[in-house]
Amino acid sequence: MDEQKNDDWQYSLRPRKLAEYIGQDKAKKNLSVYIKAALKRGEALDHVLLYGPPGLGKTTLAGIVANELGVNFRITSGPAIERSGDLAALLTNLSERDVLFIDEIHRLSRAVEEVLYSAMEDYALDIVIGKGPSARSIRLDIAPFTLVGATTRVGALAPPLRDRFGVVEHLEYYDAQALVEIIKRAAEILKIEIDAHGAEEIASRSRGTPRIANRLLKRVRDFAEVEGKGVITAAMADTALERLEIDKVGLDRTDRRMLMAMIKKFGGGPVGLDTLAASISEETDTIADVYEPYLLQLGLIMRTPRGRVVTRMGYDHMNVPFVEKNNQGSEESLF
Ligand code: ADE
Repeated sequence: MDEQKNDDWQYSLRPRKLAEYIGQDKAKKNLSVYIKAALKRGEALDHVLLYGPPGLGKTTLAGIVANELGVNFRITSGPAIERSGDLAALLTNLSERDVLFIDEIHRLSRAVEEVLYSAMEDYALDIVIGKGPSARSIRLDIAPFTLVGATTRVGALAPPLRDRFGVVEHLEYYDAQALVEIIKRAAEILKIEIDAHGAEEIASRSRGTPRIANRLLKRVRDFAEVEGKGVITAAMADTALERLEIDKVGLDRTDRRMLMAMIKKFGGGPVGLDTLAASISEETDTIADVYEPYLLQLGLIMRTPRGRVVTRMGYDHMNVPFVEKNNQGSEESLF
């Protein structure tokens, strides 16, 4: 890790050790075992795939893995590796047992993925030299390393790639208690005054996501310092979050626009993701990765084979009377 990155890392809110990392107990306990075992054997840790919605700490966890192993941590992402040569350059620069983190690994191109297979399996690169009939392939050894891949969509990963990860961990939305602890920890680091109820109020409106909790904490602090007495109480947090248009369960304007479009434009569904995204001028990927998972988790929408449907709870949340349908949204059900 270079100096600048090291500094950024150190002064950010990211925990550096597993013991400082709050929540995700299952993944944390498993990783702790694998790290200890790899250290004991003096081997590179097996490749790790972390998946789950954005903002849950996949990058943080990867950094912790490297730190606990006492090796370098190199960060890149699927879209940043355009050609197989880019990946070859990264891989040949790794030292023994280093951690290479590839964010959004589902966005690697097929050609780059091919290079990754032999690198992961045999710690070797197959490089083609020349073109046409005289082209030949040479095999280049690289240092044993650990690939940590992160993705929001494990289903979008090519099966041969997915199968090459010896460790696969799913990160889940955090419960309110874990978020309260994360908020208190961040407040202490940032020297923000916050009481227990203030932390609870922000936690319950952070959609189970530490990245959002930390962002809301900073915005609520602004309101507390400018319009309040500098202390984040439940009332202060509520006022600030109202101003940010974050509702009681953490939905923002886009979530509500999406729910309302489903109800008003598509009769509550079923509606396909592309159609829905177009109707509210959002990217399909953003809806799929960011908005839909949390609305599903809250039970405000449902996935059916024919598309997404707003549930009774979804109607209640939007204060729209629920109309019972035998066959949700189906034209045939009218006849
Ligand atoms: N900051 C962001 N995510 C965190 C976590 N899971 N534990 C501790 N601090 C965090």
